[in-house]
Amino acid sequence: MIRINEHYLKLKASYLFADIARRVTAYTTAHPDQPVIRLGIGDVTEPLPPACVSALHAATDEMAQRATFRGYGPEQGYAFLREAVAAHDYAARGCAIAPDEIFISDGSKCDCGNIQEIFSTDVTLAIPDPVYPVYVDTNVMAGRTGANVDGRYRGILYLDSTAANGYVPAVPSAPADLIYLCFPNNPTGAVATRAQLAAWVAYAKQHQAVILFDSAYEAYIRDPAVPRSIYEIEGARDVAIEFRSFSKTAGFTGTRCAYTVVPKSLQAYDASGQAHSLHALWNRRHTTKFNGVAYPIQKAAAAVYTPEGQGQTKALTDFYLENAALIRQAMTALGFACAGGDNAPYIWINVQRDSWEFFDLLLTRAQVVCTPGAGFGACGEGHVRISAFNSRANVETALQRIAAALR
Ligand SMILES: Cc1ncc(COP(=O)(O)O)c(C=O)c1O
Repeated sequence: MIRINEHYLKLKASYLFADIARRVTAYTTAHPDQPVIRLGIGDVTEPLPPACVSALHAATDEMAQRATFRGYGPEQGYAFLREAVAAHDYAARGCAIAPDEIFISDGSKCDCGNIQEIFSTDVTLAIPDPVYPVYVDTNVMAGRTGANVDGRYRGILYLDSTAANGYVPAVPSAPADLIYLCFPNNPTGAVATRAQLAAWVAYAKQHQAVILFDSAYEAYIRDPAVPRSIYEIEGARDVAIEFRSFSKTAGFTGTRCAYTVVPKSLQAYDASGQAHSLHALWNRRHTTKFNGVAYPIQKAAAAVYTPEGQGQTKALTDFYLENAALIRQAMTALGFACAGGDNAPYIWINVQRDSWEFFDLLLTRAQVVCTPGAGFGACGEGHVRISAFNSRANVETALQRIAAALR
C-alpha cells in the first residue's frame, strides 16, 4: 500500500494567504459594490524595468533564429549573469564571491525550501518568530520537527523578534546547527546592523553551524551603514549561504529569477566528523534536480546590472519606499507603534489587539486587506503587516479609508 509522507500532516491545516483569500472572497461576494484594496500579499504591482523588457525581447528574437537559438543552458546559470552578480552585488561591496559560487535559480522561495535537503534531518534549527513561513514549513515537511503544539513546532529553537529587541533576535545561549536569518525582514521590515550580524557569524563559528541568510529585500536598504550582504561581515564566507532574488529588486515575481551563493570555503560534517564542501553538495543537488533558468529570463536579469537597469531599479524601489513612508506616517499619526518601511517595503504595526480582529476591522470598515501578524508566528500576534507594493493611488485611498474607519 502506497504511504504518504506523514510529516505533511503536522503542517498547520491552513496556509496564511489561503485564509486571507477566503475571508476577502466572502466579504466581496457579500458586498460586490465595495471595492477592496489589497495591501496584504507581498506581490509587486509595477511593470518590469524597460532595460529588462528590451533584453527579454532581444533574447527572444535570438531564440527564433537557428544561428542564435539555445537549448539547455548550464544548470548553474549562464556565465554572463553569474559574472554580473559577482561584480556588482559582491566585488563592488568588497565581498570576495566568485562567479562559480553563485547558483542562478527560478526563485528564492524554491532555494530556501530546497537547501535544507543537503543537511542531515537531525540538525537543530534556529528560526526567527515572526518569519517568512517557508523556512518552517519546509523543515516540517522534511521531518525535522515534532508536532505543532500551541502554534509552535517541537524541536525548533524559536528566535523571538519583538519590540524589545528591535525585531532583531540576539544569539541564543543554546547551540543550533542551522540558523535562518532574513534582513531586511519579512514581515517586520527590520534590518540588522553590522555588529548584530557579526555576533551571528561568531556564534555560527563557535557552534560549527551554518547561517541561511535571506536577503530578498536587499535593494530596499537606503541606510549606508546597514550591510547588504552577510559577506560584508568578516568570516561569513565560512559559515553562511545567501539567497537573493530579482523579484522585489526588479519586479520579477512573475518572471522568476533569483540566485543562491554557496562559498567554496563553507563546510559541514558527516557522522564521523569529516568535513565536506557544501558547494559540492549543492552543485550536485542543483545539477541533478534543476535544468536552469530560461535564457531570455537570465538576459533580462543581467540587464538589471546595466547603467540603465541600475537607474530604473533604483527608481522602482524608491517608488515603493515612498509608499512605505506614507503608510508608516499615516499609521503612526493614528497612534500605532510602527517598525520597518525605511529600509524595507513592509511596515509592521503594533495594533494592540488580536491580529485577525484588526484584519477583519480593516476589511469590513475600510475595505483594505492587510496581513495578520499571527500568520507569521506566535510573536506576530498583536501586529499586522502592511505592504508598500501597490500603486500610489491605491495606497493613498487605502490610508484615507483606514483613517476614516479608525477615527
Ligand atoms: C523573505 C522572502 N524570501 C524569499 C521570497 C521569495 O522570493 P522569490 O519570488 O524569488 O521566490 C519572498 C517572497 O515574498 C520573501 O518574502
